[in-house]
Amino acid sequence: MCGIFSFISREPSSIATVLVEGLQKITYRGYDSVGVSVLHNEEHHVIKAVGNMDQLAPLMPKKSLQAHVGIGHIRWATNGSVSLQNAHPVASKHFALVHNGIISNIDDIAPRLPKISVLKGETDSEVVVHFCEHLWSNNRSSFFSLERAVELLEGSWALAIACTKNPESLLFARKQSPLIIGEAPEGFYLASDIGSMPDTVTELTFPEDGDYGFVNTKEIIVYNNKKEVVRPTSPHVTTQQTATKGSFSSFLLKEIHEQPDVVRSILKNNVQKTESSSFTPSFAESVRIRTARMHLIACGSSYYASLLGVHWLEKIANIAASPYIASEYYWQCAEDKMCAFISQSGETADILRLFSEPLKPKAKHTMCLINSAHSSLSRLVPRVIPLYAGVERSVASTKAFLSQITTLFLLACAWGGEEGRKHIAKLETLPTLLDTLIKGSYDFLATNIPPLLDINHYIFLSAENLYPIIVEGSLKMKELSYITSTAYTFDNMPFLHIHPHSMLIIVLNKDHEPLAHEALALALQDHAPFVIVITNGPSDLIPPHCLHLETPECDHLVFPMLATPFLQMIALVVAEHRGSCIDQPRNLAKSVTVE
Ligand code: G6P
Repeated sequence: MCGIFSFISREPSSIATVLVEGLQKITYRGYDSVGVSVLHNEEHHVIKAVGNMDQLAPLMPKKSLQAHVGIGHIRWATNGSVSLQNAHPVASKHFALVHNGIISNIDDIAPRLPKISVLKGETDSEVVVHFCEHLWSNNRSSFFSLERAVELLEGSWALAIACTKNPESLLFARKQSPLIIGEAPEGFYLASDIGSMPDTVTELTFPEDGDYGFVNTKEIIVYNNKKEVVRPTSPHVTTQQTATKGSFSSFLLKEIHEQPDVVRSILKNNVQKTESSSFTPSFAESVRIRTARMHLIACGSSYYASLLGVHWLEKIANIAASPYIASEYYWQCAEDKMCAFISQSGETADILRLFSEPLKPKAKHTMCLINSAHSSLSRLVPRVIPLYAGVERSVASTKAFLSQITTLFLLACAWGGEEGRKHIAKLETLPTLLDTLIKGSYDFLATNIPPLLDINHYIFLSAENLYPIIVEGSLKMKELSYITSTAYTFDNMPFLHIHPHSMLIIVLNKDHEPLAHEALALALQDHAPFVIVITNGPSDLIPPHCLHLETPECDHLVFPMLATPFLQMIALVVAEHRGSCIDQPRNLAKSVTVE
């Protein structure tokens, strides 16, 4: 999705280089064009490219301009096609801006411009920059132009705006789209993603919905509804996680390997065996309120994690839980229930819209499970359970998904009384089991899964609590390889779908022997050319010509956590055979931040 990274330097400096470094850190979000603009000698020097950062690099000047202000953007085309004209920054005579979000009343705004002919592209953002220009021609104040603009605009926006008349100042505004300001000794950074903030940043300021203002070389001034306001700040804690792949061929593979440590981190931060409690004070506080019914609300992979959460909450904690895709949720009779939002980014628009008028929260109890600290969602919901997955740079989610299902399991244990708490022991062995499983698995799969390039249909099969992980496994296959892939439970499998051009991936709890027989007989009789069977521990049932992957012996309740890395690695190996771009698959956004 689109990303903003802008910089105002206290002293003149090589702004463009800083912008490129910052943007580089958010390329994982997915994008199709990129651009930067440096304000120098009362002129916006705009450089843009369609494609990726590699296309931008040759266009950069050999000698970077020394300036105070620069704005940068990666664009994921939603409103207007992928073109140089539509790429950001967009500029008028005095203004240049970068914009995330969608202006919904552009048809009312455009006719206010004196000359519509100035518009060269197709985006709402270009209308906004010319609208600011038009307002400025009347009042000669960039700040009042912005103030008037946000009064008249409708929709969602995060804006960073440079004006030639204020070479040491950067305007900003936000509504329903994330924007954070970071202060460092060298200056201020405005970014849509906390992950792009340099390590030098010491303090973060979080503008709220409807805020606008400016940052100069000394301070941040925030307004809302024509009144100056003070917004909360928090220290910037750097994650110490390197932005490099190390010895791994992709971030995705690296992040799959980080999963044992993610589970360790979840346990360390939430579980503590003392006489008075099994949990750390913060986790104990998060689970203090237990309701008999729950709604789990999420999108994409996080939604599939919720499906598993629903299963555990019912089986372990006896809570009647229902999963909802956020776009389909309307606070359905939610007064007496706990509404739990599950999100890697905490910025997914379909979730955030539930907190705005006229949908305002109708639940008495809300909580969220979020990986990205300081996200918009974490500021809207009182109980926040962090997921401890660390920064996920691959667009396709792996370790964040595992962190979500592990944390949901822990929640179910916490609400499951004495019996529930006994299951925590199953989590404690998980990191070591994951270590054993992941070690060497990728090399094994890369050697043993043949490059079946003519296979164009992948079928995932499972039963019971394994369905959510095969839907996620199937999604990983689609996301990484662009292959049609479908997940079925045994009971609902349309048999005709298995044919010589399909590959079958079966996840089986080895205690379900009748099902195993049925599935394998099916696979053989219908001639799927290649069959992979994943079981929890050894099984004699698997015919020799199937590729049999055994997780370490484990209880069926935690088998989903162990089968998941196998499914991730299968999708990765197939994608590599097909030559796909692993970390930034075509047309895949990390999180969808516009409705
Ligand atoms: C989009 C992405 C998915 C992601 C989903 C939810 O659909 O393409 O990969 O799982 O958003 O994102 P979130 O950040 O809310 O977990």
